[in-house]
Amino acid sequence: MAIATPPPAYESEEEAMILDMVRTLVAERVAPRAAEIDEKGEFPWDIKQLFAENDLLGVPFPAEYGGVGGSFVTYVKVVEEVAKACASSALIIAVQELGTLPIMIGGNDEQKRRFIPKLASGEHIAAYALTEAGSGSDAAGSMKTRAVRDGDSYVLNGNKIWITQGGVADVVTVFAVTDATKGPNGIGAFVVEKGTPGFSVGKLEKKMGIRGSPTVELNFVDCRVPAANMLGPEGDGFKIAMKVLDKSRPGIAAQAIGIAQGALDYATQYAKERIAFGKPIAQQQGLQFMLADMRTEIESARLLLYEAARKCDAGAPDTTEYAAMAKLKCGDVAMSVTTDAVQILGGFGYSVEYPVERMMRDAKITQIYEGTQQIQRVVIARKMVGKWSPPKA
Ligand code: CAA
Repeated sequence: MAIATPPPAYESEEEAMILDMVRTLVAERVAPRAAEIDEKGEFPWDIKQLFAENDLLGVPFPAEYGGVGGSFVTYVKVVEEVAKACASSALIIAVQELGTLPIMIGGNDEQKRRFIPKLASGEHIAAYALTEAGSGSDAAGSMKTRAVRDGDSYVLNGNKIWITQGGVADVVTVFAVTDATKGPNGIGAFVVEKGTPGFSVGKLEKKMGIRGSPTVELNFVDCRVPAANMLGPEGDGFKIAMKVLDKSRPGIAAQAIGIAQGALDYATQYAKERIAFGKPIAQQQGLQFMLADMRTEIESARLLLYEAARKCDAGAPDTTEYAAMAKLKCGDVAMSVTTDAVQILGGFGYSVEYPVERMMRDAKITQIYEGTQQIQRVVIARKMVGKWSPPKA
């Protein structure tokens, strides 16, 4: 079925060129693979290679470190375009950004030169390891993974779970407690390379959606990491983790809005062709109200997303809350629009022979990862009213 999305406005000629290329690659190479990627639940190495060959894994990273030097606005539009057809494929681009950002934000020049060019080119895959079994939302307060200084190294012990691309990553930034007496200011960020003794990949999760994206447990047993792989000063790890999320949550918002647009495009075309009561169901007012609401929700969420991406580009002081608002709004829109798309297709919508049920399953994770929708609200509200601390006795 034809995709009917109007092309978005471009911010530069470079962005127009990149997005034209992405649209062609998605139509010719990604869309035809999307159902199979979901069904097989395997990481699509061919798609990762396609993105690498076309420089799509280094869009927001500076040219001096091998990146494209594009804007965050362009980056989110690329993720959105891919997600219209395949959320798992879009996540390859989004997680490459998420996993590279700790080094971009917290790394020194030597670390950036050592790691970023191979990540920007796609030769290496990145992952970001913050979450643990007992610490999802309470990322700092309940962190158990420890990093103990020993000479020129840190020795890591602990486990991380729900690590997107963790099983295929060459480079993982791991957050670990270096001083348990200091709370969030006693956490370090360490770049751990695949093959480091003591670092292993554990259980592969079986998931409702984004099934082509391997989500795994990572284990660290006396894993010795050179001190030269620590990002920033020892206690800065949590702040680095949070600054990363400020710039990565818009990527998930873009994935969400892409999924929503893909589902709306499909449902609209279907409604124009499906006849009931003697005319296309698109001509029934009940359906028209649904389609109009879906489009309005997508357009408003997209405006917020692009504004959040502009804030990232500008380094604006309110980037944190804009990133959280974009992720909150776009995730909720993705869930409601995909659910309505399934409804519009009726029984066909519930069948795996049509893409909208996959889109609905894929949408759900955008309300959960990179901070649940509830955590986004905490982040937004704290920027409005501050974080309360009990008065000291
Ligand atoms: N930028 C810079 N510094 C920040 C910051 C930010 N955005 N947010 C917090 N900080 C600083 C604070 O200023 C504070 O510093 P000081 O002690 O010097 O004042 C310190 O970090 C601790 O901050 P909080 O007191 O606010 O910390 P908290 O323990 O109350 O937690 C939270 C805050 C917002 C709840 C945070 O834990 C959080 O975001 N939780 C959700 C975690 C999350 O999103 N996980 C997603 C995992 S990644 C993923 O899902 C990827 C994937 O699969 C694709």
